[in-house]
Formats: sequence, structure tokens, C-alpha cells
Amino acid sequence: MLQEIKDKLNNPWREKIQFFDTITSTNDVLKQLALQGAPEGTTLVADCQTGGRGRMGRTFLSPSGVGIYLSVLLRPNCKPTELMHLTCASASATCSAIEQAAGFRPGAKWTNDIVYNKRKLAGILTELGLNQDGTTAYAIIGIGFNCNQQLRDFPDAIQDVAGSLKMVTGKETDRALLAAKMIEALYQMNRELLSDQAGILARYRQDCITLGQEISLVRGDEIRHGKALDVDDNGALVVRYEDGTIEAVNSGEVSVRGMYHYV
Ligand code: BTN
Repeated sequence: MLQEIKDKLNNPWREKIQFFDTITSTNDVLKQLALQGAPEGTTLVADCQTGGRGRMGRTFLSPSGVGIYLSVLLRPNCKPTELMHLTCASASATCSAIEQAAGFRPGAKWTNDIVYNKRKLAGILTELGLNQDGTTAYAIIGIGFNCNQQLRDFPDAIQDVAGSLKMVTGKETDRALLAAKMIEALYQMNRELLSDQAGILARYRQDCITLGQEISLVRGDEIRHGKALDVDDNGALVVRYEDGTIEAVNSGEVSVRGMYHYV
């Protein structure tokens, strides 16, 4: 698989890819490498994760043979507050990679679920590490794809909301090609990350299927209903609640329940 990915990739990060048949979590292992000084572009790709993680402490099911799980290390030279759009940027990059590898462009359910026909095809987990002076030491972007599952391969509990690329296209997904396109998309995204925030967010607004939808925001025990109006210049979701008040909501704080269950 490693050689196949490298053969399909033509940028400087191709020499920094490591492949694992099984790993605990590509994000967790890459974090260790980041702390040991690994350079930007270091990329871990796995066929299977035994401890795949999603947002808010959730498990990300990562079975072998049917998915692909990868994490890329960035070293952005900036404050973490300048990276508020990182997850949006990563989501649009993921939509582009799927478009190139599978022939259709999915959408992003704000902020980090990649969906098509109301089913989640991929999830993104971005994590930052800080220096003692508060600047950014590293950013890790982890993405897990459901590639070749059939509906019955998913646990009963998520069968109404989970999907795979193969369920959309009817064809086997070339996982090495998808990994290569994903790494390429993140390489390009990283080049524009600090210089074209406006362009990145304009692209994300086009990809974001949450906009214009009636949604519920869950924050601890509180649930508030409203309409998603916009994604602001930091990547926050601008919501108008039923009482007319408007708030820009940050991804770290809430789950969005919408047209379908939260996955
Ligand atoms: C989510 O759906 O909440 C995010 C899922 C992110 C999963 C990917 S798979 C590669 C990387 N390693 C992990 O443990 N998580 C991310």
C-alpha cells in the first residue's frame, strides 16, 4: 500500500509517509512523533486502528480492509487563534480528495463530518499542540474514510446514518488513490492556510450542507433550536435562535443535530 500511495503522489510529502497495517490511532502516534520533532508533512496511514478517536471523546470505528485512516502533521507558524478555520479548510480538502478519487463531491456537515445523501462517509479530527509561549507547536489533521463497506457492515446502531464511498458510486474505492489525493489536498491547503483564509472559508460555505437548515445545538444539558445562517470568518456557525437572537457558535462547544441524527 505504501508504494502504491507514493506512486500516485508527486509532492515533497511523499517521502514522509509511513504505513501501518494496524495502529492504535494515527493521531495519537503522530502526536508522539510531533513531540519528538518530526517535520511538517509527516504522514501516518493505516489499514486499521484499534483506538480510533472522533470528536468529543467518541470512538471512530476503523476496521481493516474497508476504510483508510490517516493523519498529517503541520507546523503552522502562528498563534492558535489564527487557525480557527483549520477544520473547515480540512473538510473542504477532504471533499476535494473524494471528488478526485471517487468522482463525486460530498458535503460537509458543520464542521467536520463529510456526508452524502444524509450519510457520513468520513470524519475529521484536528488537534493542536502549543509551545510554552502560547504559539502553535503543531497541528494534526486526522481523517477516517468509510470506503468499501456495505450497509450491513456497519453496526445496527449507525446503519441509518453511516455510509461509504462504495455505497454512493457502486464501485470499489481505490484506497491508495484516495490517500494520495487526500495528502495532496492537504499539501495544497497548507500552502494557503495562512494567506487565504477568506478563500478557504468561501469554499467551505459552498461545501457546507448545514447552511440554511433548521438545527439544534446541544451544549451540555441545554438544547437550543434555530436556523444556520452562515459560517463566519473564523469558521464559526452563525445561528439565529427561535427567540431571534443570533450567535456565532464554535465547533468545540456543540453538537449540531439536523436533518438526520448526529453520527
Ligand atoms: C469524528 O467523526 O468525530 C472524527 C473522526 C476522525 C477519525 C480519524 S481516523 C485517523 C485519525 N486517527 C484517529 O484516531 N482519529 C482520526
